[in-house]
Amino acid sequence: MNWTFKLISHDATRATRQAVLWPEKTLEQLAVPGDESALHIGVFVDEQHVGVVSLFFDAEGAQFRKLAILPVFQKSGAGTALLAACVLIASQKGAKKLWCNARQDALGFYTKLGFEVDPEVFAVSGLLCQKAFLRFPYLKILVKDVFIAGVQALGDSSRSLL
Ligand SMILES: CC(C)(COP(=O)(O)OP(=O)(O)OC[C@H]1O[C@@H](n2cnc3c(N)ncnc32)[C@H](O)[C@@H]1OP(=O)(O)O)[C@@H](O)C(=O)NCCC(=O)NCCS
Repeated sequence: MNWTFKLISHDATRATRQAVLWPEKTLEQLAVPGDESALHIGVFVDEQHVGVVSLFFDAEGAQFRKLAILPVFQKSGAGTALLAACVLIASQKGAKKLWCNARQDALGFYTKLGFEVDPEVFAVSGLLCQKAFLRFPYLKILVKDVFIAGVQALGDSSRSLL
């Protein structure tokens, strides 16, 4: 698939966050503290919106939150491509770690991509989660190797994101 990536506003993430992650919450409840200063990335194919993710930076590294691919596009490589964009951006910004609070039913997706998983289990709004993370310099290795297909799929659009 020919994925393209665009920076979008945090308001533009909410309908996808709601549809994929939290259908029972209102759009207002889908806002996250820090959304105003985070980077929000949309993935598209043929101008059609496919999914979103939001990147939050701190001294520790980059946390991605609300990774959501619309059901019709799931398992088509969109999530991998969007994470490749996150790896690129995080490593370009000097992050030492890229991590998320992973839902347990998505852990297999992250471990396939080489994420390490913290054994501690905790609940977020009633859903069991574990921290999943990639550490520097693994981030750069991944850009070169594991995510190479996704990075290539990014093409010129990645450069305009950075
Ligand atoms: C999880 C999600 C982001 C993955 O994105 P995707 O585009 O569906 O995944 P990809 O097509 O890039 O999949 C890459 C690989 O991971 C596998 N995979 C995808 N989702 C998986 C899951 N939930 N559990 C285990 N493996 C999964 C795919 O089968 C594929 O395996 P393969 O390489 O052997 O074929 C997406 O399915 C999604 O939005 N799910 C619902 C919301 C969600 O769980 N978000 C994450 C919250 S932490």
